[in-house]
Amino acid sequence: MNELHNLLESESIKPYLNINKFEEIELPFEYNETDLDRIINDFTHLSHPRFQNIKSNLINKTTKLEEPQQQQPPIQIPFISPRKSYELTQFNCKITQIYENTPFEFIIDVGAGNSNLSRLHKLPTIAIEPNLKAQKVNKRLNGLMKHSVSSLEDNQVHYTKHFELNDEDTLRFIRSRQRSNSGKPKCLIIGLDTCGDLSGNIIDLVVKSPSFLDVIGCLFVPCCFHKVTKFISLKFMEHDVNFKVFGTSDLRALDNQEIIKRFEVEQDRSVHNACGIFIKWCFVYGFLSHVIETLVIQDRIELLKEHNHHPNIDIIFHFDKSSRNIAINCTT
Ligand SMILES: C[S@@+](CC[C@H](N)C(=O)[O-])C[C@H]1O[C@@H](n2cnc3c(N)ncnc32)[C@H](O)[C@@H]1O
Repeated sequence: MNELHNLLESESIKPYLNINKFEEIELPFEYNETDLDRIINDFTHLSHPRFQNIKSNLINKTTKLEEPQQQQPPIQIPFISPRKSYELTQFNCKITQIYENTPFEFIIDVGAGNSNLSRLHKLPTIAIEPNLKAQKVNKRLNGLMKHSVSSLEDNQVHYTKHFELNDEDTLRFIRSRQRSNSGKPKCLIIGLDTCGDLSGNIIDLVVKSPSFLDVIGCLFVPCCFHKVTKFISLKFMEHDVNFKVFGTSDLRALDNQEIIKRFEVEQDRSVHNACGIFIKWCFVYGFLSHVIETLVIQDRIELLKEHNHHPNIDIIFHFDKSSRNIAINCTT
């Protein structure tokens, strides 16, 4: 933890974290302008010798190369890509483990999308999802899968846009899932591939849980770190980092040719005529993105600890199949 603090304060990182335009940065690196692969590898895969120490000690918090503890045979879910089916299967395995240790009555799935997860775990679910299209797709998929193993009962998933969960329909759903009249209904809060600030919303639900619920914990895989707007733990909030520089580029899922293409489209110039800018662009979206991802994960963990929870980091996907492969797992 102190090492991460030092990283935020270190002179090799700090000046860059609040820049607004990467054109303004002076970079302490020398490159041969034709060596595009080396530039990309140095920054996006952190191969530059100067990063070795940082890489091995710190920048391994959003991606881990180790194998997940449990590998489930992936179930190919109809209409879903093999990569997503794999993620859903692995994530569902964790849900099952938690359920076996601490049974709960329903799930709150934050950023649920089409609620594909519920087709696997089949537990009653409140899907918090602002995109109305996702709800319609869910209904259509239910119709198409009526007789398959992935079918759902009509009343198994309740969609809402609101985190408060106190509208009449949602309260009715919660009451209908309570197994007995004694005690509050128990729920697990989950999120698969939670974009940007959604991981913070999940923690908010855990630490300020509504008075009518017994939240047993949370399980989520954060992603889209370029959409994060702020640190939320006391430890990290004091560092006034401006996240705007990270813009919309996320290079992690791209290969080298795709990275060059992204630069050329975004910057509207050929990489060969703008190699200096390309180096800075790779530094910001490659190296600095890794730094920010690491810090954001630690920030979320820190916030849970500040509220007396005991979060764990689990490797949940194989790196080659889905490189954002860390889940924050925090249950009582
Ligand atoms: C990357 S998708 C993941 C969907 C789903 N969990 C899955 O893994 O298939 C992120 C989802 O979060 C939803 N989302 C974005 N902002 C949100 C917000 N403020 N509250 C709830 N959901 C949100 C998006 O509409 C989208 O469906």
